[in-house]
Amino acid sequence: MDIFRIEGPVRLSGKVAVNGSKNAALPIMAAALLAPGKSVFKSVPRLSDISVCGELLEQLGCTVTREANSDLHIDAATIDNTVGEYNIVCRMRASICILGPLLVRCGRAEVSMPGGCAIGDRPIDIHLRGLRELGAKIHLHNGYIVAEAPHGLTGADIFLGGPFGSTVLGTANILMAATLAKGRTLIESAACEPEVTDLANCLNKMGAKISGIGSPRLIVEGVKQLQPVEYEVIPDRIEAGTFMAAAAITAGELKLDRCRLDDMMAVVDKLRRIGVTVEPANNGCVVARTDSIGTADITTQPYPGFPTDLQAQFMALLSLARGNSVIIEKVFPDRFMHVAELNRMAANLRKEGPTVIVAGVEKLIAAPVMASDLRASAALVLAALAAEGTTIVNRVYHIDRGYEKIEQRLKPLGAKITREKA
Ligand code: EPZ
Repeated sequence: MDIFRIEGPVRLSGKVAVNGSKNAALPIMAAALLAPGKSVFKSVPRLSDISVCGELLEQLGCTVTREANSDLHIDAATIDNTVGEYNIVCRMRASICILGPLLVRCGRAEVSMPGGCAIGDRPIDIHLRGLRELGAKIHLHNGYIVAEAPHGLTGADIFLGGPFGSTVLGTANILMAATLAKGRTLIESAACEPEVTDLANCLNKMGAKISGIGSPRLIVEGVKQLQPVEYEVIPDRIEAGTFMAAAAITAGELKLDRCRLDDMMAVVDKLRRIGVTVEPANNGCVVARTDSIGTADITTQPYPGFPTDLQAQFMALLSLARGNSVIIEKVFPDRFMHVAELNRMAANLRKEGPTVIVAGVEKLIAAPVMASDLRASAALVLAALAAEGTTIVNRVYHIDRGYEKIEQRLKPLGAKITREKA
């Protein structure tokens, strides 16, 4: 297992291009199952999660190839297997988003229950509720979800809200299934994340009839068939937010290319309120901090609220604020694996249920730390860039799931980071 050796403190400066969005690409890759033929996807990042999704699609009968120009080709002409095996699904929870498209394409889908992960329980009850309302017969068998709709699906009015608000992949699953259902489907309390909007735009380019895109109410008129597509995924707002936090925590200045500020208003609002400048620039923005870090109260919420996927990175940043901040995690209340690790680096964090009190400290001190979930791991890298001394981040495979060659992209910006074998 690889480790990162990171020396701090450093000041980052320079230009970095934001990659395509992992969380847009994964459901869009699953959408390829809906159309017999070869689809071409652009700006899909080279990440382990993307490779796992490709393996899963190949297991179903697709041909998945990464071209020299980095385009991802998915040929879904023939689907000769309707089972998403445990040995793949357990490696990436987002595999659940093949359920809807596979079911509506083949009349049957068997997908291993995804199981939990480092950020807490990951239920799929809303996914299953929505598919049942479209007419699917669903039962659980030996840890697998078995969904059947031999005569196809029928449009319905579906409420997709849950105890934590909307569900991103739940909306993706129901939306994809509804595109080929008979009649009209109304999805109320749909997730409005930019990645869901990107999926809907891709589906419409394939011939689907979706309206209300970007709103909590989606209307889908079912069609008989969808066509393969050529589509470019949107930039990754979470990767962009991570780089913004990196500029802020190191009192640096970064120019982000391919960054859509319109997808990040909650994040930019918080940065500006704590003294970080965010200025739009052609096709991106410039993020800089010269003064001390102000305090903030952050509550994570479904889009357009503050994203849970940037909660850990902002906790690392606020650990160096001049005073106390409060972070409340309303989407995944257990998503705090990074708290103990940051405290090992001399942060002063106190967790009270879904709330963490962040008492700002003068400095962080390097220490050996353990990566856990994808975003908690990114938070440890940010902390290590600002900490005094040499930090060892263990189990960096967690970071490789969502950040392409992160050490090679940080080095030109001034980071002293090397990847080594443990
Ligand atoms: C997506 O996960 C993202 N993953 C997550 O990013 C992100 O944190 C999350 O949305 C929230 O924005 C991908 O897009 C691949 P949810 P998803 O269903 O769809 C509850 C990352 O770091 N819920 O929107 O699985 C659930 O427990 C990853 O890139 C139910 O109760 O998340 C949670 O509390 C981590 N029943 C809340 O809803 C369900 O059937 C939101 O979860 C489904 C979800």
